[in-house]
Amino acid sequence: YTTMVYISRREQFSAAHKLVREDWSAEKNLEIFGKCSSPNWHGHNYQLFVTVKGEQNPDTSFVANLSDVSKVICEKVISKLDHKNINLDVDFMHGKLSTTETLAVEIWKQLETSLEKLGCELHCVKIQETENNYVEFFGK
Ligand code: NI
Repeated sequence: YTTMVYISRREQFSAAHKLVREDWSAEKNLEIFGKCSSPNWHGHNYQLFVTVKGEQNPDTSFVANLSDVSKVICEKVISKLDHKNINLDVDFMHGKLSTTETLAVEIWKQLETSLEKLGCELHCVKIQETENNYVEFFGK
């Protein structure tokens, strides 16, 4: 049998956004999206948890080197999001609602291939937007 081991790296970013559908009235946006629909933007301190899985390397016993995992996350995702406006500045979020759900799905797409090159497989992208809310995406 094989031993599948899961390892995770946390990164953090601060970013602005608003949740607004242009085809809805301000009242409906407020009703559905609450405070996140506020027209003049607001920010969150997001925590991003990336979990990869794989078998242990027999020489190092690592699944992957977490500092390499961190480099991939920073290059592909954090550098594009940190201190940016998610709606306006982030190429992979253009034209999309900046919900935590959509962020998780789009971050997955940014990371999947580069993490495979480290010899592991992306398992979960988890994003914590506030202390009490988090979203997880497992790739399908
Ligand atoms: Ni918000």
